[in-house]
Amino acid sequence: MNEKRECKFDTFEGFAEKDVAKDTAFSFAKAGDYANTSVRLVMSKMPNPEQVRVHKGYFPDTTKELSGKERFCFVNLDMDLYEPTYNGLLYFTARMSAGGVILIHDYFADNFKGPKEAVHRFLKENQGSYQIFPIGDGISVMLVKSEGV
Ligand SMILES: C[S@@+](CC[C@H](N)C(=O)[O-])C[C@H]1O[C@@H](n2cnc3c(N)ncnc32)[C@H](O)[C@@H]1O
Repeated sequence: MNEKRECKFDTFEGFAEKDVAKDTAFSFAKAGDYANTSVRLVMSKMPNPEQVRVHKGYFPDTTKELSGKERFCFVNLDMDLYEPTYNGLLYFTARMSAGGVILIHDYFADNFKGPKEAVHRFLKENQGSYQIFPIGDGISVMLVKSEGV
């Protein structure tokens, strides 16, 4: 079956200690920042909750809940920190559908410099394979696969 749905990955307990420990050069993030939320609260805001699957816990560990055969057409990486952003780029770029887009929030942020570092590392490791575009909101970029790669 070709089921279409939206996947949401979050600890719902804020930043993880191990990610924060690797982020000291990029931010003043603290473990537990953004913990003031819940699956129930987020789901209550979804216009079509039946199309949403929540993967609560540490990303990328929670990707084990997927079959591995999924393909993504749009990914919004908004995890603020270097480590999960880099892991997100690795995981999702390997699973994008043709023409798919990955948006990286906070690329231009002054208070979270990890996402930009993660994007630059990824682009360096995959030279020529992806193109990067500012999307015009002043804080995000998008990555799209280069044609013919
Ligand atoms: C700025 S908030 C964005 C939340 C949501 N995307 C939104 O727009 O409201 C950053 C989120 O990234 C989550 N996060 C950061 N690192 C994570 C990781 N390794 N695994 C799962 N979630 C993570 C935090 O728990 C936090 O909720």
